[in-house]
Amino acid sequence: MTVHAPFDPRFDTPIDRRGTHCEKWDEMEAIFGVSPEDGLPMWVADTDFRPPQVVQDAVRRIAEVGIYGYAGDQTPCRDAIIWWMRNRHGWAVDRREILFTHGLVNGAGHVIDALTAPGDAVILFTPVYHAFAAIIKAAGRQVTELPMVLEDGRYSLDFDAYAARLTGREKLVMFSSPHNPGGRVWTQSELEQLAAFCRRHDLILASDEIHHDLIYPGETHIPMARAVPDIADRLVMMVSASKTFNIAGAKVGSLIVQGYPLRRRVLDRLKPFGLSRNYFGMIMTEAAYSPEGAAWVDDLMVYLDGNRALFDAGLAEIPGVVSIPLQSTFLSWVDFTRTGLTQAEVEDRITRGARIAASSGPSFGTGGEGFIRFNIGLPRAQIAEAVARLQDAFSDLQ
Ligand SMILES: Cc1ncc(COP(=O)(O)O)c(C=O)c1O
Repeated sequence: MTVHAPFDPRFDTPIDRRGTHCEKWDEMEAIFGVSPEDGLPMWVADTDFRPPQVVQDAVRRIAEVGIYGYAGDQTPCRDAIIWWMRNRHGWAVDRREILFTHGLVNGAGHVIDALTAPGDAVILFTPVYHAFAAIIKAAGRQVTELPMVLEDGRYSLDFDAYAARLTGREKLVMFSSPHNPGGRVWTQSELEQLAAFCRRHDLILASDEIHHDLIYPGETHIPMARAVPDIADRLVMMVSASKTFNIAGAKVGSLIVQGYPLRRRVLDRLKPFGLSRNYFGMIMTEAAYSPEGAAWVDDLMVYLDGNRALFDAGLAEIPGVVSIPLQSTFLSWVDFTRTGLTQAEVEDRITRGARIAASSGPSFGTGGEGFIRFNIGLPRAQIAEAVARLQDAFSDLQ
């Protein structure tokens, strides 16, 4: 099976990240026992692609000055964010509504701190990005898991069933839109139902839209703030250029809080932490959110679409293995439940057999059992190699 796509040196050229203090490559041996010498890192959610030239040029300019002191005027960065949200997402944002954080896990921590109290519960639609549960628990809050429904390879939310599962302690929903893992792009109707659920149960909604630019051709992401504008009184939008442009190490993100008393509450609780501006994050975000950055994202998604097709078709040849059709994200979510193997057996074949480091499904909460998440943001040749290794590691399945 071959999937044709134009050769694109921006994404096809392998870049050796070993020894560059890069989590995905440098820590795979310690965590998975997979050597970076011949292993493939398909776990941490950053890609092995360089950001667009416009970002590299911005970094080069500050490197030429060569002094990395305190960051100055944030206005151009705020304006770039406003431009991006309007042009790419049809969403109008005002400068003062943007509150910077050191990335979005940090942002989620601040939302939990500001808008809930110890002992309160936070709702997660599982399986979902594992850091959410970890920080909720570390903050002394509880997690209320509301499992998504998986039918014919598509996840959905069942609000009628969820009402009965609430404990009464829930104050906040941490929502992933588009959803990681599984890549669901939520529809207008689903977002309206979620907003109604939040109103009915007096919940604040934090919509983490970090994957919102990584949308496959033919799909349309709707920002929660645009889908249901009158939820602004209880909505915190969470966005960042980090996934889109592969700049997660710059630790930058923002909470966009458009409703007023709510923004005041978040601002007041952010202040004691003394968060200061991140120079690199600010410079990179400003450069990325530009017409050049936009053109690069469009090309990236065409490339990732080819990776997705190659990976899914290759895995479909393994009996009992099905990847969930992604609408978004470079994180393939693969169902091994019909292989008859246990989670441990599946993982052993992937790490020791295929020499691939990939994320364990159960770490994403209820509904993740029997699944593995593979990062397909790699040069196409490595995706082909991963497919060949996985087919080999499961070649005895009938
Ligand atoms: C839904 C979601 N939120 C946040 C993050 C991480 O954000 P940051 O690197 O800005 O802390 C990820 C990373 O995969 C994610 O998938």
